[in-house]
This record gives sequence, C-alpha cells and structure tokens, in this order.
Amino acid sequence: MTRIIILGAPGSGKGTQTQLLSQYFCIPFISAGEILRQEIKNNKQNKKYIKKTINKGKLVNNSFIIKLIKKKIQEKIYLNGFILDGFPRTIEQAEFLNKDIKIKFIIYLKIKLTNILNRIEGRLIHEPSGRTYHKILNPPKKKNLDDLTGEILTKRKDDNKKIISTRIKEYEIFTKPLIQWFKRETLTNSIKYFEINSNNSIQKIHQDIIKKLNINLKN
Ligand code: AP5
Ligand code: MG
Repeated sequence: MTRIIILGAPGSGKGTQTQLLSQYFCIPFISAGEILRQEIKNNKQNKKYIKKTINKGKLVNNSFIIKLIKKKIQEKIYLNGFILDGFPRTIEQAEFLNKDIKIKFIIYLKIKLTNILNRIEGRLIHEPSGRTYHKILNPPKKKNLDDLTGEILTKRKDDNKKIISTRIKEYEIFTKPLIQWFKRETLTNSIKYFEINSNNSIQKIHQDIIKKLNINLKN
C-alpha cells in the first residue's frame, strides 16, 4: 500500500506534483487546501470560519482539519493508498496520522523564496477541479481557459503579496519543524524521507520524484 505525503512551502509545487504523481502511479490524491475550498462552497456552517482564516493566510484549527481529513481517508477509493497534498502541516496533525496510518514516503519540495513569489504571483486555477496553471511558467493551451473543460481560469483570493507573507510565516512556524520530526521518524519507523530540489522545471521535479519512488518501491 503506497501512502505518500507531499510537504513544502506555499507555491513549492505540491499541487502540481501531486497531480502528476497521481496520474503516473494511478494513486488517488487528497488536497487539504482543496477540501477546505470545497467546504466553503458546500458547507454553510463552516464557510465563514474557513474563508476568514484562509483569506488571512493563517492555518485553520488542527482539530477542524483533522476531522475533515479523517472522514476523507475513510472513503473507499483511498483504502489502497493515497497521496496527501498539504496535510499534515503541524506536529499535532502529523501525530494524528502517525497514530494509526502507516505512511510510506515523505517528499519534501525544497524551494527558494524568490521562486515562491514568482509562482504565486502568476498562478491561475480552474476552480471546480483545482487544476493549476501559471500565466508564464505553466500556461494553459488557450489563454485563461482550462485545458480539459475550456472553462475560465481565475486567481486564488489568497494569492496576493500581503497574504502570501503570512502564509510563508505560518509555514516557517508550524510546518517547517515537521521536516526534523519526519527525519526522526525514519530512524524508528519504516517511513522514507526524500528532499527534492523544487527550483527546477515541473518535468525535472516529476522525474526526480519518480526515480526516488521507483527505486524504493522495488526494494
Ligand atoms: P493550500 O491550497 O494547500 O495552499 P499552500 O500550501 O499555500 O500551497 P499552494 O497551493 O499555494 O502551492 P502548491 O505548493 O500547491 O503549488 P502549486 O503546485 O499550486 O492551502 C490553502 C490554505 O488552506 C492554507 O493557507 C491554510 O489556510 C489552509 N490549509 C490547507 N491545509 C491545511 C492544513 N493541513 N492545516 C491547516 N490549514 C490548512 O504551484 C504554484 C504555481 O507555480 C502554479 O502556478 C504552478 O503552475 C507553478 N509551478 C509549479 N511548479 C513549478 C515549477 N517547477 N516551475 C515553474 N512553475 C511551477
Ligand atoms: Mg496547492
């Protein structure tokens, strides 16, 4: 059973690489950010809290996201494995996962701050599916339109300079410590941890990840 976590700063390419890996290995994926954005659309009760928190660039409450992820991973399609994009983001979230779910691989996408800002600045999304593009670095086939549906692409509300600086701060405070936490876990656990240079092109990163996973899936 292959369970993979994709870890990295905002804009490091988690969503992009998750989608490519999911297609390559035919493993379904779960994106924490997407779950929350769907909740804004579909859950009247939680809408206000999630929207307010995301648009400030802050992390939502641990117990809140843990509850949503717990429910999601119990769905049938994830029984044989999954790729997790954007979860865990705090030690408390990692401890929840570690309790009864065996994770096989952690992929940490390491990126420079200047690249984060460029990527966030030009990102376009297809809201219904979460597909991601970049105006210059990863453009859609037709300007401003989703490749698969032809529907219009939009910008994420939290992709502006002010909010991104808070998102990066939240990452530094709460998520970065997870790197050491997971490295420690590899000593006593069967988890494998890989660091990937995410300053490269999308295809190069994808190939680097596949190489690491293929070698380790054979062993
Ligand atoms: P989330 O949606 O997960 O946002 P994030 O972590 O800030 O990450 P992003 O989605 O911005 O970036 P990414 O790494 O996926 O990069 P992408 O592939 O899109 O979460 C949103 C919010 O929800 C959080 O701020 C928080 O409030 C809340 N939340 C979510 N999970 C939570 C949790 N576990 N706990 C608490 N709160 C939570 O790429 C970015 C751009 O760059 C795109 O335009 C892409 O086309 C381009 N690009 C990608 N790779 C490359 C490359 N190699 N070269 C050039 N361009 C590239
Ligand atoms: Mg993302």
